Amino acid sequence: MPTRTQALVVHQVGAPALLTDVELADPEPNEVLIRVTASGLCHTDNLVQHGGIPSAFPAIFGHEGAGRVEAVGSAVTRVQEGDSVLLSFATCGECAYCKADRPAGCSLFWDKNFMRVRSTAVGDEPVGQAVATGDAVYGSFFGQSAFARHAVVSESSVVKVPQGTDLVQLAPLGCGLQSGAGALLNQLKPAENDSVVVFGLGAVGFGALWAAAHLKLRTIIVVDLVPSRLDLALSQGATHAFSGSSPTLLDDIRAATGGIGAQYAIEATGVARVLRTAWEAICNFGHVLSVGNPGPGTNAPFDINDQVNQSKTWSGLAEGASNPPIFIPQLMRLHEAGAFPVETISRAYPVEQYEEALAAMKSGKVIKPIITF
Ligand SMILES: NC(=O)c1ccc[n+]([C@@H]2O[C@H](COP(=O)([O-])OP(=O)(O)OC[C@H]3O[C@@H](n4cnc5c(N)ncnc54)[C@H](O)[C@@H]3O)[C@@H](O)[C@H]2O)c1
Ligand SMILES: [Zn+2]
Ligand SMILES: [Zn+2]
Repeated sequence: MPTRTQALVVHQVGAPALLTDVELADPEPNEVLIRVTASGLCHTDNLVQHGGIPSAFPAIFGHEGAGRVEAVGSAVTRVQEGDSVLLSFATCGECAYCKADRPAGCSLFWDKNFMRVRSTAVGDEPVGQAVATGDAVYGSFFGQSAFARHAVVSESSVVKVPQGTDLVQLAPLGCGLQSGAGALLNQLKPAENDSVVVFGLGAVGFGALWAAAHLKLRTIIVVDLVPSRLDLALSQGATHAFSGSSPTLLDDIRAATGGIGAQYAIEATGVARVLRTAWEAICNFGHVLSVGNPGPGTNAPFDINDQVNQSKTWSGLAEGASNPPIFIPQLMRLHEAGAFPVETISRAYPVEQYEEALAAMKSGKVIKPIITF
């Protein structure tokens, strides 16, 4: 039986998200019906809403969801009715990367997360319709479309968590935070004596900072334009904090790293020219990891000659190389131990205050707004 609910529907590219009565289709065999408790708000929701990445409309966004399972499709094995879940990115489950437990590399990542492909049977079919107009509405953004009181979610997006989990505060683990934390914990795996510089203190940057502090790295440098973010980072394990607009930034980073530059840099601003600074801020044999993404069509701003002669490495990373059913519980344990203080960067807003939450994120007042349902 279709589920009558309310969702934030964006009727066309660039239009506002309006709380709209919708009727959701029943879950496909590989899908789960979730009563959504909360969903983090991420810049990618806003980017796609405004056409930065193509999408079908009318559409529901939201890809850092959390909630409870109300019904499961016939082939679902990960969860059952009543389970508490956090939601993350969607994958095909069948390609070489998925089979090797490296789902962040899924061959169908683009199709499943941005193109809203639900299953081979129904492709990118809309997930429901607006009650008042009968217009089809597209869901399945990152397998979720969690800006709604209910969502039909891909089983691959679902991570079962213990009953009693704080589904509001931990909702944002599924995207930016795991991307930043995974950059260090899953990909770079630095040693205690190593130095890292994190450019950008949004959710991605704080995820990376907390991971670096947990690993007890000797030198943890953070760079941002917002003084309050630098102060917060200093109180949470950063050893040095510099303004991204300082004319002495590179000298300061070198002075903090024995004169040669950091072993690792994490680019988490998404601003292309910051990548150039990150490249200059690492030492020979150093590694710059791009997590921030300036969007399609931007070339990396450095000389191959430097890469060869200085033995530098540059690479990119999607979703922190996370395997969510394993990595998200790992982050929850860090949170439990006080090492992943998500509450210090977030603020919850009831769905009726969505525009206020969006404005707070855009102005930089709140790092991670969480929409509650
Ligand atoms: N690779 C992935 O899987 C993945 C996942 C999530 C997000 N992202 C990308 O990561 C980036 C960061 O995401 P976020 O949610 O943390 O964003 P955010 O906007 O909250 O954070 C970016 C931070 O960079 C700072 N900044 C901007 N210009 C700067 C400069 N010149 N010097 C220093 N700091 C500067 C801002 O003040 C802000 O604090 C975005 O590009 C996002 O699209 C990638
Ligand atoms: Zn796959
Ligand atoms: Zn995101």
